[in-house]
Amino acid sequence: MRMRMAAEGVCLIVVVLGWFGVSKGEVYKVGDSAGWTTIGNIDYKLWSATKTFQLGDVIVFEYNPQFHNVMQVVHSEYKACNASSPISTHTTGNDSIAINTHGHHFFVCGVPGHCQSGQKLDINVLRSPSPTPSFSAPLPPPAVPSPSPSAAPPCLQLRRLLPNFLLFYLLITLFA
Ligand SMILES: *[C@@H]1O[C@H](CO)[C@@H](O)[C@H](O)[C@H]1NC(C)=O
Ligand SMILES: *[C@@H]1O[C@H](CO)[C@@H](O)[C@H](O)[C@H]1NC(C)=O
Repeated sequence: MRMRMAAEGVCLIVVVLGWFGVSKGEVYKVGDSAGWTTIGNIDYKLWSATKTFQLGDVIVFEYNPQFHNVMQVVHSEYKACNASSPISTHTTGNDSIAINTHGHHFFVCGVPGHCQSGQKLDINVLRSPSPTPSFSAPLPPPAVPSPSPSAAPPCLQLRRLLPNFLLFYLLITLFA
């Protein structure tokens, strides 16, 4: 019985890890239909405040590269609208930037005057994201309708990996 429960525990962990593995980030187009622009006084602060960014999300800057660009800068330069030493510069007019770290990611348009007129963006990835539906929803039933003895061995084999999985799971829980 204990072994069976352990095996089921491993299966549960595998299912949860599988969910992590297949989860894809959201893609957000900055400014929605307006894009990345100085026209229309887009409130990019409000735009980002209405989103809950998570690791793996991709933000897309769409703009006319003749008139704008995207520069990632540090906080002080974001505040001062100083784009003289950006962390990175994007100029294609259709820049997809993956957000892979927690905390703030600051972007400005490096064309003189544009940041001052509001073309600046702060993407903040919170350390503890709100719970996802996958955790509150019941887990889906196993693929095999009635678990027969032949269905057990693959999971039992995974028992040897249990310490690794637990460690990985713990790390995810701590740092997600
Ligand atoms: C912009 O930042 C650079 C250093 O990153 C500094 O040398 C320069 O004086 C700043 N310009 C203004 C206008 O603050
Ligand atoms: C921007 O690139 C994405 C793919 O990365 C594409 O789907 C989209 O149509 C492009 N938009 C423009 C305006 O080129």
